[in-house]
Amino acid sequence: MHGYSSKKNGWVCVLLIVCLVLVTKVWAEESTQVSFKGDVQPILQYRCLECHRADGPGVAYSGLSLENYEGLMKGTRFGPIVVPGNALVSNLNVLVEGRAGVRMPHNKKRLTPCEIQVLRNWVNQGAKDN
Ligand code: HEC
Repeated sequence: MHGYSSKKNGWVCVLLIVCLVLVTKVWAEESTQVSFKGDVQPILQYRCLECHRADGPGVAYSGLSLENYEGLMKGTRFGPIVVPGNALVSNLNVLVEGRAGVRMPHNKKRLTPCEIQVLRNWVNQGAKDN
């Protein structure tokens, strides 16, 4: 009887540690301050700019220029794609995460989970020009 309960305690302990690690990880991701210039702009430059710059097809079709902060915040000719503080409804995040019919980058390799997380954190932290 005694042996059984100490084994059970051991499992409870393991579970607690696993929970603690997960919570710490989520907390660390949320609290890391994302920089537009340092983190976000390089992703846009490498993965989006070939189409979303002045004479690119992405601008021709949607009006969305991703050359700088102003262009990103202005959005498409239909309206903004970033809702500061809310990555859940921001079209930028919806598209790169593949949550809609269209996915960006258009017909190209999707962003890595890490890049997706950077864009999500940046929007959730207020989409600042930092
Ligand atoms: C290979 C070219 C190409 C690349 C690379 C590309 N796009 Fe696009 N993008 C387009 C085209 C073309 C359109 C307009 C047609 C459409 O909506 O499918 C568009 C439209 C959009 C729209 C507006 C969609 C809407 O429904 O209003 C957003 C937002 C967008 N792109 C974001 C991005 C982001 C962010 C990246 C980089 C991660 C990216 N795009 C990379 C070609 C591209």
